[in-house]
Amino acid sequence: MFEQIKIHPNDEAFRNDYIVYICQKFFISRKYKPKRIIEIGVRAGYSAYGFLTAVPNAEYFGFDAENGTHGGERGPYMDWAKDILSIFPNVKYKKIDTQTIDSLGEIKADFIHVDGDHSYQGVLHDLELVFNHHLDEHGVILVDDIDRIPDVALGVKKFLNNHPNVKYKYLETFNGDVLIGDIADILFNDISIFREVEKKNKSIISLSENKVDKKIYIIDSFKKKKLVEYLQGNEKVLIRFGHGWGDTQMFMPIFYQLKKIYSKVIFDLYLENGQEEIFNSVKSPDMSQYDFVFSLNFPMSEGSNLTKSEKCCIEEIGIEPISKLATLSLQESPIVLVHFQGTCLPEGVNCSLDISEKIWEEIKQFGKIPFECHFCHNFHNPVNNKYQFIDNSARNYKANLKNLIGLVQNSFAFIGVASGPLVTALSIMPDRTLYLEKHHHIKNYTYDNVDKINILNYKDGNVLSWLENLTNKNMGK
Ligand SMILES: C[S@@+](CC[C@H](N)C(=O)[O-])C[C@H]1O[C@@H](n2cnc3c(N)ncnc32)[C@H](O)[C@@H]1O
Repeated sequence: MFEQIKIHPNDEAFRNDYIVYICQKFFISRKYKPKRIIEIGVRAGYSAYGFLTAVPNAEYFGFDAENGTHGGERGPYMDWAKDILSIFPNVKYKKIDTQTIDSLGEIKADFIHVDGDHSYQGVLHDLELVFNHHLDEHGVILVDDIDRIPDVALGVKKFLNNHPNVKYKYLETFNGDVLIGDIADILFNDISIFREVEKKNKSIISLSENKVDKKIYIIDSFKKKKLVEYLQGNEKVLIRFGHGWGDTQMFMPIFYQLKKIYSKVIFDLYLENGQEEIFNSVKSPDMSQYDFVFSLNFPMSEGSNLTKSEKCCIEEIGIEPISKLATLSLQESPIVLVHFQGTCLPEGVNCSLDISEKIWEEIKQFGKIPFECHFCHNFHNPVNNKYQFIDNSARNYKANLKNLIGLVQNSFAFIGVASGPLVTALSIMPDRTLYLEKHHHIKNYTYDNVDKINILNYKDGNVLSWLENLTNKNMGK
């Protein structure tokens, strides 16, 4: 029945798959007959098209970040969705990143499709958001991609753990759906409707206690069997560690120990949320490549005499308990010092408010932390009031030369007008110092070749490109 649907040219190769997918969304919606639908993750509008075909007059509110993640792409898909959904009378969209908000506005719906950010935290956030604020009594939430993306299954599982009284039903659809809500069970006590459509034969991620079964990818319960008890010798193993930064630092020595003890087993680690930039991690792993995928819970140890690491070793891994913290490699300083106002000759030296603010913003845009290197020492010039936009400054702290020198020595770069801090920076790190020149030539202070920008003729992006150049030259500490 959906053979004629307009599939986006990028998706044309998967036309048949999409038709199956849309059919299944249609069947789910036809079964439930929602009056109002909310969808997080619209993309090209296929699921919405399936839902609305079953209930053409239902109100539909679609939200999508269009940020190029999780199958989305800026521009083309949303326009496509608008086009194919234009035949339905009550369709509204909003471009928004749902991860950054705690309300979608004053709306409630009896049917909510969660198909946006597919990370563990992302799914959990969206589920809590819609469940707590936007779901009608007796409404249902449908979550897509349970089978395809392990983090989605783990996010759903965590949500169900948070809400033990909430009912749910797994639906063996194209990507695996879970229906969550009071009447999920009643609605789909018979899944035979899915036999109406062709299905791919694929593995299932269990939402309940996992059995050791080749069909089930993720092992996340270690009550009956510890991780090492699964290992025979030459397996390829993925360990998913989806916890906070503190936990990861406690866990890493355990991971290295495991690799040392089971040296023939190939262990991969799967981290996210920036942790993968610090420790070796696989990116978007294909779970089917592994003999075992373990997802550790890293249980709380408060109330016991053990550290969390020791508890994990004993209760989940099955090795002698160890407890130490990861060694972190040295990172370049995140601070860029700025000095906008000189003590003497403020007229001829000081950087104006608007240019200073531009410079400050460009440092932030570059990804570093601007810090005003301005001490209120004995000779502080009272005309040099702090600019309002400055939220990090040395002004309120002890003014002494050791603090100034230490600050400069531990910074990524210095950008400043003619004054004491500039000369300090020139003596410590001349190749990472940028002079903000106004009426006084740098040759009055040094014959060295110093990078400079004339602040009377400032061009947007000057500081940003100087900083980018510094990185390219790999001069950072
Ligand atoms: C898998 S696609 C959705 C597919 C769609 N339901 C369909 O059936 O065609 C995921 C969508 O979620 C969107 N998305 C990703 N992260 C998001 C976020 N934080 N907030 C809102 N939308 C997001 C992406 O832009 C992408 O369009």
